[in-house]
Amino acid sequence: MIKPDGLSGNYTDRIKNLISDSGFTICKERIIQLDEESVMSFYAEHSSRSFFGSLVKYMTSGPVLLMILEKENAVADWRALIGPTDASKAKVTHPHSIRALCGLDSEKNCVHGSDSPQSAQREISFFFEEKISGRIVPKHDEL
Ligand code: PPS
Repeated sequence: MIKPDGLSGNYTDRIKNLISDSGFTICKERIIQLDEESVMSFYAEHSSRSFFGSLVKYMTSGPVLLMILEKENAVADWRALIGPTDASKAKVTHPHSIRALCGLDSEKNCVHGSDSPQSAQREISFFFEEKISGRIVPKHDEL
């Protein structure tokens, strides 16, 4: 997922170039304006964290670009390509990562990646198999 700061900062083309240069295929993509309910459901495991309200506000502040990426070892390789959660630290420890390139901090970190193949399956299903019908508001046509 390219988060609101990634889209509003016009980083999409650079991120997509990194995606293809790193051997991923984009199987499906769509731009969506998430509503509060879908964000709270997506990040439910973090609902007790102090930053949850801020995260929901940020993730509903603009559209996101959802992508299904395909590659051998895709989950781990994508996590490596995006770098650590805190983009300010990524700039020091992983200067060539996507978050170092485009992100700002732990909230505005530009991109999301599933943390396991099981999460990837759940998240793909959540966003692409209409299981959240009525909870996501499409803002643009599918690409
Ligand atoms: S943490 O902090 O160890 O739980 O990190 P992580 O599990 O990677 O974070 C989970 C998601 O929460 C976001 N996050 C934050 N949002 C707002 N403010 C703060 N301080 C903050 N810290 C973490 C972080 O961007 C993760 O989002 P995803 O989309 O999963 O990367």
